[in-house]
Formats: sequence, C-alpha cells, structure tokens
Amino acid sequence: MSANILVLHGPNLNMLGTREPDVYGHETLDDVNASIQVKAGELGVAVECRQSNSEGDLVTWIQQARGQADAIIINAGAYTHTSVAIADALRAAELPVYEVHLSNIYQRESFRHHSYISSLAVAVICGLGPDGYLSALAAAAKKFG
Ligand code: DQA
Repeated sequence: MSANILVLHGPNLNMLGTREPDVYGHETLDDVNASIQVKAGELGVAVECRQSNSEGDLVTWIQQARGQADAIIINAGAYTHTSVAIADALRAAELPVYEVHLSNIYQRESFRHHSYISSLAVAVICGLGPDGYLSALAAAAKKFG
C-alpha cells in the first residue's frame, strides 16, 4: 500500500502568486499543489494538499491525520512563529513532520527566526521556494520505499 502524505499550507498561502512575489515567487498555490501531485505520482505516494487561514482548521486536520496519514509536510505560514497549538497537535499526531518555508526565514525579520515546529520536525527546508515541498516529499516518501 502506498504512503499517504498530508501537505498543509497555512495562512495567506492561498495568496501565492500575488502576495509579495519578490519574496514568495509568481506561482499560485494551485501551481504549487499541481507540482506536488506530479512529484507524488513519480514517487508512487498519495498526497492530499489542504490550505487554511484558520489555526483551528490546521489543528483539527493534524489531529485527524493521526493514524490516517504516514507523514505531514507543513508550511504553517505565520503560525510557525506563534502557534503552540499547532506544535502541540503535531507532537500528539506522532507522525514524521517536515517543515517547509518558501523563503529563507533566517534572512528575514528576527520574529521569523523562531519556529515552534522546528524542534519536533524531522527536517526544516526553507529558502528553496516551491521546490522545498518536493524535497520534503522525496524525503518523506523514501521512508516508505
Ligand atoms: C513562510 C514564512 C513565514 O514567516 C510567513 O509568515 C509566511 C510564509 C514561507 O513560506 O516563507 O506566511 O512560511
């Protein structure tokens, strides 16, 4: 049976393509998700991509992933830097977590340098733009290959 990987996009990532393109690039979220699905096909894994601007939605989806998904790839957007609730949910899910950021958060404002997720993640990929999701997916899939 192929692995099930959940990809979660947090707040404002629905605005990709028009949101600060100098920082986040010109691809829309649909473009990014399409590339993820192509890569998933190549790797032979099943991927579900979801986006929400709501912290509660993200917490609920992470809770539901426990026992259902095999790994979580998450770009929690600004909640990365603020949300103990998302970090607690990820810890409780007991799944491998891959943290992705499009931009290199360490080259940006100091409030972006701290992530509540990094300490529980298998890996953190930032600064590669949308390719970061594909790298995370390849790494996650390798565990089930
Ligand atoms: C981001 C970086 C965050 O600091 C920011 O709040 C985002 C996007 C990124 O992908 O680079 O919304 O997670």
